[in-house]
Amino acid sequence: MSPTDPAGHAIETAGLVKVFGETRAVDGVDLAVPAGTVYGVLGPNGAGKTTVVKMLATLLRPDGGEARVFGKDVVRDADAVRSRVSLTGQYASVDEDLTGTENLVLLARLLGHSRPAARERAAQLLEAFGLSAAAARQVKQYSGGMRRRIDIAASILNTPDLLFLDEPTTGLDPRSRNQVWEIVRAVVAQGTTVLLTTQYLDEADRLASRIAVIDHGKVIAEGTKGELKASVGSGSVHVRLRDPAQRDEAVRLLAAVLDESVTPDPDPVALTARVDDARSAAEALAELARAGIVVDTFALGQPSLDEVFLALTDDKGVTA
Ligand SMILES: Nc1ncnc2c1ncn2[C@@H]1O[C@H](COP(=O)(O)OP(=O)(O)OP(=O)(O)O)[C@@H](O)[C@H]1O
Ligand SMILES: [Mg+2]
Repeated sequence: MSPTDPAGHAIETAGLVKVFGETRAVDGVDLAVPAGTVYGVLGPNGAGKTTVVKMLATLLRPDGGEARVFGKDVVRDADAVRSRVSLTGQYASVDEDLTGTENLVLLARLLGHSRPAARERAAQLLEAFGLSAAAARQVKQYSGGMRRRIDIAASILNTPDLLFLDEPTTGLDPRSRNQVWEIVRAVVAQGTTVLLTTQYLDEADRLASRIAVIDHGKVIAEGTKGELKASVGSGSVHVRLRDPAQRDEAVRLLAAVLDESVTPDPDPVALTARVDDARSAAEALAELARAGIVVDTFALGQPSLDEVFLALTDDKGVTA
C-alpha cells in the first residue's frame, strides 16, 4: 500500500523521549524515515534502539515529544498505527512447542485468514524462507538462524506497510545473516518500509538507504551512507599487487609518500591506505609504478562505516 503521509514519510518523530527511572533511554530523538526504504538505526548495546522501536510500534508510551507513523500519532491514533505495522522483536513471539507450520497457521488464523488461506500462506512463507523441510518440526528444535527466519515469516503473514526488525541478525552465522538480508530485500521490494535496528555497521551498510546512529538515547549522526562517510572526511585506496613478495616494499613506500596509515589486508597481495583525496591516491599509485611494483587492480573507497562510527563516538566522548 502506498504511504499516506504527504511528505512520503513512513515515520516522523520530534523530540521523542522515554525515561526509565534515572535513565533517559531515549533522549529527544528526531527521525524522518522515507516510505518504501530500509532505514537503519545503528547503535551499541543500551543505546535506546529497542525503546524507540517499541514506542513507534505503540508498545510503550513516550514520555515526551511525538511520533507519527504514516501520519498517525502513535498515542492518539494507536489503533490506526497498529493496523499498519508489524514487529519482529529481539525476543520473538512464536510458540516453541508448535511446529513451523502450526505457528504460522495459528497466527494467520488469528489475523482472520480462513483455514485454507492460512495453510496456503504458511506453506508459501515456509518455502520462501527455506523452511519447508523443517515445517513439521517443533520450533524449539530450530537453529538460531531458522528461528529468526520463522520470526520474520510470522511478522509478514499479512504484508505490513511498516516492518520493525529489531536486531534481526544478532548472533547469526554469516550464511544465516545473508538469508535474513535476502528476506529483508524481498520484503522491501514488495513495498514495505523497514526500520531495522542493528549493532552491525556492515549490515546497515548493505541494507539501509539512510542510517541514524544513536548513542545514549540521542541521534549523533543521520544521513545516507555516503553522507555519513563523507562527514568523516578521508577515504581509502585499496590496492592488489601482482606479486605478494612486493607487498612489504609497497607498504613502506606508500607509508612514506602518503604520510597516512597503510595496512596490509588478510589477502597476501592486497593492502589498504588512507588517502585525503583522489589526487593523493593517484600519486601513490604512480610512486608504486616508478618503483617497479606491479598493481593488478585498485579501488578508491570511502571510509568504512566502522571508521565513521568510531569517529563519531570519539568526537562526542562519553556524555552519559
Ligand atoms: N523496561 C525498562 N526498565 C528500565 N530500564 C530500561 C527498560 N528498557 C530499557 N531500559 C534501559 O534503557 C536503555 C536503552 O535500552 P534499549 O533496550 O532501548 O537499548 P538497545 O539499543 O535496544 O540495546 P541492545 O542493543 O542491547 O538491544 C538501557 O539503559 C536500558 O537498560
Ligand atoms: Mg535492543
